[in-house]
Amino acid sequence: MRPTIHILLAAALTGAAHPTKDFKVCQDYTIPLKITSNNLAFNFPKFQNNFDVADFVDTITSRDATTAASVVSSKRQNVTANYSISATFCKPAKQGKKNTVLIATHGLNFDRSYWDPDLDKAEYSFVDWAVGQGYPIFYYDRLGVGKSSEVSGYVAQLANQVAVAKELAKLAKAGQYVADLGKPDAVVLVGHSFGSHVSLVTVAESPQLVDGVVLTGFSLNSTYLNLDGFIEAVALRVAAEQQPGRWGKLDTGYLTPVDLYANVGSFFKAPDYSHEVAKYADSVKTPFAVTELVNDNNVPSPPFAFKGPAMIISGKYDFIFCDSDCDDVLENPGRQAFANSRAFTAVSYPGAGHGLNLHLNAAGSFKEITDFLRANGL
Ligand SMILES: *[C@@H]1O[C@H](CO)[C@@H](O)[C@H](O)[C@H]1NC(C)=O
Ligand SMILES: *[C@@H]1O[C@H](CO)[C@@H](O)[C@H](O)[C@H]1NC(C)=O
Ligand SMILES: *[C@@H]1O[C@H](CO)[C@@H](O)[C@H](O)[C@H]1NC(C)=O
Repeated sequence: MRPTIHILLAAALTGAAHPTKDFKVCQDYTIPLKITSNNLAFNFPKFQNNFDVADFVDTITSRDATTAASVVSSKRQNVTANYSISATFCKPAKQGKKNTVLIATHGLNFDRSYWDPDLDKAEYSFVDWAVGQGYPIFYYDRLGVGKSSEVSGYVAQLANQVAVAKELAKLAKAGQYVADLGKPDAVVLVGHSFGSHVSLVTVAESPQLVDGVVLTGFSLNSTYLNLDGFIEAVALRVAAEQQPGRWGKLDTGYLTPVDLYANVGSFFKAPDYSHEVAKYADSVKTPFAVTELVNDNNVPSPPFAFKGPAMIISGKYDFIFCDSDCDDVLENPGRQAFANSRAFTAVSYPGAGHGLNLHLNAAGSFKEITDFLRANGL
């Protein structure tokens, strides 16, 4: 398939932050991948309706660990499949001396536009920030999301998303799907939320694959992980029933928050966001697979062998990962888990909740990220 090239005019979008008119060159790709992953199997009856989803929520949040764990089968299976991944690659129009390619994986409830939302770009576009700082960036729709392959909402999960991320990283390292950039000097994984989990497992399982990792909207501290709180607060509904026009084709494994306010409760923190931005985020929300929600123990245990610089940065008020207070939480056991990394930093970023990039001071967190990478030679 022939890629389309679009040069975005920055002047109208970003003003002073990007002095050159055409600072960014972007290209869309559809990438065929053959992956094998060791998948978990859903062990709860497939949902017929929202009554079943309500009962699933009761089951998975049970204080009885055996009940909670019963939603997945104890048997895993190796599955090989062909998928296509829809991606966008952007690079500075004026190529810099050094090329560190960022590979960005979005989280649940979003598609790749999380990294470049249709909002004031100077405030909310991580893509524009990164490119403005000289970093080419590759961002994609996760498997089962947006323009990537449709898969069942009982199949898309951490294991196959990690397999996809590994293949994409290999391709980028080899200089493929990065326009005319050639082989990059370095590759860094950047994730948000579930996309951070995907990035983390990728570097934990394949420590040689990439050169750095940035986990946003994420924490390794299980003491304050509020996953049950999230699953309850977000009030899941079968996506196909909620918006048949848009999501009627998705099977019942695809779920979505009941309404704007359930979405806001999990992803935004007042007064640090604009209601208009929250409404926008809700209007572009993207269903996610129930099998992406269920806990997955099939992850290498820390300390990880990964040697590259690692950063964890989450909104101070992250509801999902820190139970609304990330201060002192990200460091432990983050630093111990990345004991082999040549640099580690944890930032509880003030004035933001879980949906870090959509808060009023998001641009400051973008700067924290590129400053960290640059300070560590990436
Ligand atoms: C799945 O594949 C992995 C890696 O190739 C292998 O070690 C494992 O034995 C396989 N598991 C099953 C159940 O076939
Ligand atoms: C994937 O595609 C290749 C090439 O088209 C084909 O040979 C293979 O059988 C496919 N594999 C699966 C698991 O569908
Ligand atoms: C989570 O962070 C708190 C505060 O720093 C710390 O006391 C606790 O031990 C951490 N939990 C884990 C599992 O490391």
